[in-house]
Amino acid sequence: MTSRQMSAAGLVTAVDPSAHARGGPAYRAWASAIAAAVLDGRIPDGTRLPSERTLAEAAGISRTTATRAYGVLRDRGLASARQGSGTVIRLPLTERNATSLLATSADPDDISITTAAMPAPPELARLVHRAAEGLPSLMATHGYLPDGLPLLRERLAQRYTEHGLATEPEQIIVTTGAQGALALLTRVLCRPGDRALTEACSYPHAFDAFSGAGARLLPLPIADDPWPMADIERAVPSAQVAYLIPDFHNPTGAVMDAERRGRIGAAMCRHGVTTIVDETMRDLRLEGEALPHLARWCPDAFTIGSASKSIWGGLRVGWIRAPRSAVPGLIQARMHQDLGASALDQLIVAEAVAAGLLDRSPHLPIAGRTRDAAIALIAERLPDWRIDPPAGGLTLWARLPGRMATALAMAAEERGLLLTPGPRFFGAQPHAGEHWIRIPYTQPQDVMKRAIERLASAWEDLGPRDAEAVRDPRTIDIIA
Ligand SMILES: Cc1ncc(COP(=O)(O)O)c(C=O)c1O
Repeated sequence: MTSRQMSAAGLVTAVDPSAHARGGPAYRAWASAIAAAVLDGRIPDGTRLPSERTLAEAAGISRTTATRAYGVLRDRGLASARQGSGTVIRLPLTERNATSLLATSADPDDISITTAAMPAPPELARLVHRAAEGLPSLMATHGYLPDGLPLLRERLAQRYTEHGLATEPEQIIVTTGAQGALALLTRVLCRPGDRALTEACSYPHAFDAFSGAGARLLPLPIADDPWPMADIERAVPSAQVAYLIPDFHNPTGAVMDAERRGRIGAAMCRHGVTTIVDETMRDLRLEGEALPHLARWCPDAFTIGSASKSIWGGLRVGWIRAPRSAVPGLIQARMHQDLGASALDQLIVAEAVAAGLLDRSPHLPIAGRTRDAAIALIAERLPDWRIDPPAGGLTLWARLPGRMATALAMAAEERGLLLTPGPRFFGAQPHAGEHWIRIPYTQPQDVMKRAIERLASAWEDLGPRDAEAVRDPRTIDIIA
């Protein structure tokens, strides 16, 4: 694998040793901070670290501290050093890690609460049978569907129209999950150097998709909720692209109110900002009325949907609702990507739409009960944590009384609990997110109970002294 050089300034920006200073020597805090960024994917495998001398200069630490920190990384098997090529991050195959939000573990006693998705509902079996009945006519074709299965495109278009957003089937492109939609849209819509406006914290794989397409992230300032209106209006004129999650925002679970949808949609339109609205979580509504699609106010917006959350992630079916004029270019570009989603999976989702399962996800009753039970248990076991109960989605966004999310995630991992700490949701923003932990409530209630017990025990071991030790006046965290 070729190495990517990380500058000293880049490393100092990416990691936050103050959040790992547990009263020990500085080199340990630096080693832990770098290890945490490697394990949660902020520093990719194969990255060549800056020289110890340049790190020492940029970070204002002694050269011995930098040298010893790199030594700890090598001892942990997270880096290798070779004469002439410096220190290179090497993620060992055996390391149980959280480089993906889908971290899994081979240890059957481990619990992973990294993934905001439910297992398939029992209804899926019936849908598969019904879909199989429609398969013979498809089997007479070659089965490649770069724009999507016509039946599914029709049903999705009809559903948008019924929900107040007039849509023709030709405007729908079926993708391999919402992630496939993001990959296609960022590749087609972003030019290198474009500024991509995003919420301060957001879905990390979207950040990755924008960066991969050469865009520069322009995250909104951290504020009380993900959509500080004055900041958005200030930022819009300097953005070329925008990516927003108005419904059950991942990770905070917040919902953009109707008034702001109107104002933001109109502002994007006025300034010609190419707007991508990610509605992956939209159908997981536990309370309240559905609010209008943001594209109502921004007709040229690209809206992403998915069957992953309301039905099952294993289907790998998502879609884009695009302005008509953009469709041919997207389909053409798609030829380099995957040539289309699975025909059988699309048939299954077409059955699901006809059966109304996107409008009434079979997961909702369980998700509602698990959410309430998790909130109650956290309030009892971790009374100084703060959670604003979300009206939908699949995650709790817990505010900790100290900046110690990464340290907590590492302590939890030692107890067999895998979870994603806040910084992973703040992209490349320096030192942000240490106040936050995302807790998906997608495991069965008894497993969630054990998970929260492990979390509480990890928290007790970190102790209040640590919360003080890691407080850093440079960083303000979101108060959602
Ligand atoms: C906001 C958001 N967008 C996209 C995705 C990817 O979803 P899919 O499984 O449809 O690819 C996720 C998955 O968690 C998500 O939360």
